[in-house]
Amino acid sequence: MRVAGPRLPAVNDMPLVDTLNRSLRDLRISVTDRCNFRCVYCMPKEVFGPDYKFLPRSQVLTFEEVSRLARIFVDQGVRKIRLTGGEPLVRKDLHLLIRMLAEIPDLDLTMTTNGSLLARNAHQLKTAGLKRVTVSLDSLDDRVFKALNDVDFPVQAVIEGMDAAAAAGLGPIKVNMVVKRGVNEDSILPMARFFREKGYILRFIEYMDVGHSNGWRMDDVVPAAEVIRRIHAEMPLEAIDPNYHGEVAGRFRYRDGIGELGVIASVTQAFCRDCNRARLSAEGQLYTCLFAVKGYDLRELLREGAGDEEISNAIARIWGKRADRYSEIRSENTVSLPKVEMSHIGG
Ligand code: GTP
Ligand code: 5AD
Ligand code: SF4
Ligand code: SF4
Repeated sequence: MRVAGPRLPAVNDMPLVDTLNRSLRDLRISVTDRCNFRCVYCMPKEVFGPDYKFLPRSQVLTFEEVSRLARIFVDQGVRKIRLTGGEPLVRKDLHLLIRMLAEIPDLDLTMTTNGSLLARNAHQLKTAGLKRVTVSLDSLDDRVFKALNDVDFPVQAVIEGMDAAAAAGLGPIKVNMVVKRGVNEDSILPMARFFREKGYILRFIEYMDVGHSNGWRMDDVVPAAEVIRRIHAEMPLEAIDPNYHGEVAGRFRYRDGIGELGVIASVTQAFCRDCNRARLSAEGQLYTCLFAVKGYDLRELLREGAGDEEISNAIARIWGKRADRYSEIRSENTVSLPKVEMSHIGG
């Protein structure tokens, strides 16, 4: 096993920025392309059926490879690592990777999960060094949720996962709800009421045209402004400042002082201007945009025996020429581009 050496200086000791002057702060690492759900907007069964070819194990980065890359990214300025999938918790022994990543100083280490396996894993994840979790849940109505996850998974088990995570100290818990017109928009208010009572931060995500298998149409999007209007009519809201530069969610608090929510308006109010996120797929491809058509193969470098400095320089070169701003230039033509699937790069 190759062990990462001492911290490397960023190239020329200058902070790494892309062509639009955006730094590299946030790394989302997909640890598997598999998932135990088949959400209709992400892994529809017609595409991700029994014959779908998931990555063979040999092509998936090992924990040693992931943590070595993570250290190199941190040397290049990354301060937050979010583990994603597919569903990250279907990766066997994930807590061992978390333990390795938790040794890296000054790092916000977090995970986005569908929550289905959280109840039994929360404590172990916390002990391994995970700081917090974000759990996806699209409705409180079992019929609606099951129609969306398409594997008959019940709401209650996800809520138990969130509660176990909160009890284990993985809070503040955030909840992600993708809103699809005519499918779960009636769940907006019940979700808002329920999670403000519980003290979890619910975020409404505009349905996006990621990948090319979900048949996205603009008509399916419920704009964030509409979500806010609907909630505000019943429970008055006010906007609050972001927690950090480049935060994806716009934040609101309830005027009565009880609770907070967020909206992720990547379709109607693109936030590319501050986008400081890179994504690493399970097979070690580096993507500089959620909507990228192609990634850069870091696994090849790793497995050919490249040194840390060589890999670091490669990352700096890739980031230095980055010009992505897909959501700002989305159009009829871009929607049909052959983009990478969400389950490959974890959202
Ligand atoms: P924290 O602010 O640390 O809580 O995390 P986050 O909101 O960045 O992470 P999370 O995984 O919860 O992201 C929420 C959702 O926002 C993702 O699942 C995507 O749907 C969307 N999203 C995140 N980053 C981007 C991005 O760079 N571009 C676009 N278009 N959407 C994004
Ligand atoms: N649009 C918006 N959000 C999506 N997610 C998955 N597919 C889409 C899509 N097409 C969300 C998941 C999860 C996060 C990782 O991304 O529900 O919360
Ligand atoms: Fe799995 Fe998340 Fe995609 Fe649903 S959205 S299929 S839970 S990876
Ligand atoms: Fe960043 Fe691409 Fe999303 Fe824009 S569309 S915010 S550049 S990941």
